Amino acid sequence: MARTGGVSPETPAARRECLPTLARAACHQRARNEKTTMTASRQTPAAGAAELARPTPSTPAASRLFDEARSAEIVIASIASATDPRLRQVLTSLVNHLHSFIKDVRLTEEEWANAIQFLTDTGQACTSTRQEFILLSDVLGASMLVDSLNNETGGIATESTVEGPFHLVVSPQRALGDNIANIDDGDPCLVTGTVTDDQGLPIPGARVDVWQADAHGFYDVQQSHLHPEGYLRGLFTADESGRFWFRTIVPRYYPIPGDGPVGRLLQATGRHPNRPAHIHFEVSSPGRRTLTTHLFVADSPYLYSDTVFAVKSSLIHEFPQVDDPVQAREVGLPNPFRTVDFAVTLRAADDTD
Ligand code: BEZ
Ligand code: FE
Repeated sequence: MARTGGVSPETPAARRECLPTLARAACHQRARNEKTTMTASRQTPAAGAAELARPTPSTPAASRLFDEARSAEIVIASIASATDPRLRQVLTSLVNHLHSFIKDVRLTEEEWANAIQFLTDTGQACTSTRQEFILLSDVLGASMLVDSLNNETGGIATESTVEGPFHLVVSPQRALGDNIANIDDGDPCLVTGTVTDDQGLPIPGARVDVWQADAHGFYDVQQSHLHPEGYLRGLFTADESGRFWFRTIVPRYYPIPGDGPVGRLLQATGRHPNRPAHIHFEVSSPGRRTLTTHLFVADSPYLYSDTVFAVKSSLIHEFPQVDDPVQAREVGLPNPFRTVDFAVTLRAADDTD
């Protein structure tokens, strides 16, 4: 790999590091000549001589020279005086793991250049509406791991999962029972649910933000020429008993964007790009931890091979069919229709377990 950004041998920094062979003598001679023209305020002759002394193997300076066996240790020593302790902790671990990884696979120069090109392509694929780095984090399972480590349920709360990139439109305020879909284009569905606290008490007025793909696996923002703004999105307010309900269609599974570097990575590794059918939820209430999660459709393909690893078994729900014209009329859907009930439990915001 071509090297760039190295220190020029003509710079004072390079001279201070000093040269081991015949060049060292020339370096000393040049330094002596320079010293006579230096002002006393820049460098005293005594200090200059000390700087030019070659460190012996036992001096602290020598221990900072590159050494393959101690490569991580040397880099970590360079950040020892970082004042933010968390930054120091995170970087120390990152450098340790990065150096171990490079040694473990004995990375070639060509592979490292390819990796850098891949990350460059990933950055260049990002726009104001596309975040290829988050997608990369998703398909590597990193998004789910960070989500999981930061959203413990305490054995009580509803489990979380990743937010995904399609929550970029603010959901329109909806009344309970509203229809957020074109009911003729898919399986009509009544979604009901409750929002309760960790004692099982209802949370009146909880905000329930939902968004989903259509029956063909597209979000509104992917086909904005076909749908009105806010299609298949809704911001509901739970009633005094913490209940919510709305009408929609059952979403279909869909592929994540595959026309960028992340798509190429999936192809190269023999992976499919699909996510199982789901409805996104973000449920919040003052004093409660906001829950970001999905409701997965139990009969969807790809439940057990989600390309972003976001399925948790507690989030898989049956969507049974109701074949009853009276009930269909009551809820304002064609017969037959499907149903699902989602019981959401929110933890207190200050709950730390
Ligand atoms: C989504 O469910 O909308 C999604 C999540 C992660 C990556 C791509 C899409
Ligand atoms: Fe989604």
